[in-house]
Amino acid sequence: MEFKQSLKEKSNYIESLLDEYKPKEDGYQTTIMEAMNYSLKAGGKRLRPILTLEACKIVGGNEEDAIPFAVAIEMIHTYSLIHDDLPALDNDDLRRGKPTNHKVFGEAMAVLAGDALLNYAFEVMLSNSINKENPQKYLKAINEIAKSVGIYGMIGGQVVDVESEDKSISKEKLDFIHLNKTAAIIIGCMRAGAIIGNADEEQLEKITKYGKNIGLSFQIVDDILDIIGDEAKLGKHVGSDIENNKSTYPSLLGLEKSKEIAKQLIYEAKDSIKDLSQDHSFLDGLANYIIDREY
Ligand code: IPE
Ligand code: IPE
Ligand code: MG
Ligand code: MG
Ligand code: MG
Repeated sequence: MEFKQSLKEKSNYIESLLDEYKPKEDGYQTTIMEAMNYSLKAGGKRLRPILTLEACKIVGGNEEDAIPFAVAIEMIHTYSLIHDDLPALDNDDLRRGKPTNHKVFGEAMAVLAGDALLNYAFEVMLSNSINKENPQKYLKAINEIAKSVGIYGMIGGQVVDVESEDKSISKEKLDFIHLNKTAAIIIGCMRAGAIIGNADEEQLEKITKYGKNIGLSFQIVDDILDIIGDEAKLGKHVGSDIENNKSTYPSLLGLEKSKEIAKQLIYEAKDSIKDLSQDHSFLDGLANYIIDREY
């Protein structure tokens, strides 16, 4: 099947899972569920949950076992976007083609909706793990996800990203930002899927390398699109990084060099999974898509 078609089918499948797992909008606290679901169901490429299921499958596992984890990772990613867009952080008013969460629900609800999505993700993962006959590997998967989005992962990267506004920083520090704010959750969601699929250490190592390379490349391309992208396609404003005086790949190395590095990382990503399984064509396609994408 052509890659684009297969990506579309997989993202439709994730949409249906999100509909199944999203919180019901009722009770005195209905507003918070509405705010959570507004951003969760606003669109988005669904790359991280797709990668969780794919990592499980490619190591020989049953991808259905990883479903609650795939859904949870998209909830966590969505929370990170809601908070990233707040006036105190990047101050953006367009996300996934719609007004940002705080523009619709106000800042207080947007903060709480982010908190709630993060917590709900763990409710979903834990409630689907505690009654398993052998919960060990599910706990390991939850641990991977928790670490990848915490102070040694996504939040760590966001902290240094915010602190590096209006400063010129080293390439080493910029890589710390990108590897943590963006690559860490991609590595974490893939390792979690692979662990649920009973991956051995060698398989996990290959998946980690792939996730790290596509993750860094993904953020470099995000930085590039923030300059040369099309707002209508991206569903978010271009020029946000320049407005906030962010440290990015293009600001440090220029557009051409950034494109070159993003491409090289994709080559390395594909190389790391070439003997992982007979059919790694989807992951190859996804790696290529990361540098070819327009949104
Ligand atoms: C945006 O991620 C945040 C970054 C890490 C650059 P995506 O580009 O995957 O956003 P959605 O999920 O498709 O909206
Ligand atoms: C965000 O990086 C990474 C997150 C952890 C959300 P950006 O700030 O560049 O992401 P966008 O461009 O707003 O999606
Ligand atoms: Mg940001
Ligand atoms: Mg941002
Ligand atoms: Mg960006």
